Amino acid sequence: MNAVYYFSGSGNSRRVAEALAQALGVVAQDITLGGVSGEEQVAAVVFPVYCQNIPKNVVRFLKTLRAPYAVLIATFGRISFGNVICEAEALTDATVIAAACVPMGHSFLQEEYGFDVSLLAPLLARIQAPQPATLSASEKDAFADIFPALRSRIGMRISKAADCNRCGLCDTQCPTGAMQSGKIGASCIRCMRCVSLCPKKALRPRPRRILKRYLLRNRNRICTPIYYL
Ligand SMILES: Cc1cc2nc3c(=O)[nH]c(=O)nc-3n(C[C@H](O)[C@H](O)[C@H](O)COP(=O)(O)O)c2cc1C
Ligand code: SF4
Ligand code: SF4
Repeated sequence: MNAVYYFSGSGNSRRVAEALAQALGVVAQDITLGGVSGEEQVAAVVFPVYCQNIPKNVVRFLKTLRAPYAVLIATFGRISFGNVICEAEALTDATVIAAACVPMGHSFLQEEYGFDVSLLAPLLARIQAPQPATLSASEKDAFADIFPALRSRIGMRISKAADCNRCGLCDTQCPTGAMQSGKIGASCIRCMRCVSLCPKKALRPRPRRILKRYLLRNRNRICTPIYYL
């Protein structure tokens, strides 16, 4: 039996995880809602790249992985993915049999960007016939580890509009416990999950001009998937 786990802020990693899960005949499990690694042979873990790093909740999840084999898939906003695959591999006892960095729309730009399911073919083939993948370190900017979450908070403001009806959905979906009915605390990592899930569209993201300019200028830096097989 195989399993697909994911964390997703703005929905990209969820889309990839659900496509992979469908191809494998399983249901993708959201780690924010309690997906727990069990007895599976191959565990695929799909997650977004945040400031060239692995989100902290995914770091914690990777450390608990029980499966003998793992497939790692990082989605990123076509700018950079640091060294997340090697860093993720170092966190788990599982043997990584395949990995990929998949370019998607950038969460901060709220842009539509297509995802072609056929991109998963090399990973699916490896799951059918597991063998250790060859991983190679990739370049990470020198500043990437300097307070990444703080830099995201400074760059992206999120304000709550009067439309909020205090339903509390954002509280239960926040991966860091930063949210209280539309009021955002200091542990926010700006994953945008609350923004995309709010049924009233009451959470309004506003990137600072300098960040927006940077994202627009660089968003097509890497547009093809990188595989590690
Ligand atoms: C806080 C934050 C930091 C990000 N940092 C990067 C980055 O360093 N490089 C990049 O290419 N994309 C970056 N992105 C874009 C996401 O990696 C990309 O949109 C990803 O597919 C989002 O997946 P999700 O929708 O599952 O959250 C960042 C997004 C967020 C919210
Ligand atoms: S999900 Fe939206 S409407 Fe519900 S509490 Fe949060 S901000 Fe308010
Ligand atoms: S409050 Fe911050 S960390 Fe929590 S869901 Fe919203 S953007 Fe993500």
